[in-house]
Amino acid sequence: MIQIAVFASGTGTNAQQIIHHFAAHASIKVALVVCNKPGAGVIDVAASAHIPVLMIEKEKFLRGNAYTDELRAHGIGFIVLAGFLWKLPPRLVVAFPNKIINIHPALLPKYGGKGMYGHFVHEAVISAGDKESGITVHYVDEFYDHGNIIFQATCTIDAGETPASLAQKIHLLEHSHYPGVIEKAVQTVKS
Ligand code: GRF
Repeated sequence: MIQIAVFASGTGTNAQQIIHHFAAHASIKVALVVCNKPGAGVIDVAASAHIPVLMIEKEKFLRGNAYTDELRAHGIGFIVLAGFLWKLPPRLVVAFPNKIINIHPALLPKYGGKGMYGHFVHEAVISAGDKESGITVHYVDEFYDHGNIIFQATCTIDAGETPASLAQKIHLLEHSHYPGVIEKAVQTVKS
């Protein structure tokens, strides 16, 4: 059994899809949700699924052990970021080589980097006049939105598109693709 930790600090709609996808999986299990934001929706999502939550704080994450001991104690073998906004410290990246992936709500390498999250991304895409946007799943290294790309899917930007309507399209793409992409990435590590 490969045990996944989902790092999330938002409403957790992706986390929910991921948990649902692996609920009855034969060899992959969501064993932990890691969160840095007290009160985040994802905490309730984890509680409803009876998945433990590890609340983390910045100093220890960035300048301490990066919670690597706690992750090991939970038997974590793969990390999935789903709305987690802190840059990962090298210590964590090194502890999980090619075993951390992220989803970004745009077509990287465009519209990535510090501060490019949520509605900021969609606003930038629309004001640039792009005709399409989409999602990118990529391996994580110590730079924002930088590691090798595993998967992309696109959607059109229609006349009158707003950041809110684009966000909805992107969420649908994320929910339908991310769990399956995670499954393949985990299986690649195992084989
Ligand atoms: C997603 O749009 C994801 O691309 C980004 O953060 C958002 C998380 O949304 N990295 P949710 O909390 O899963 O609804």
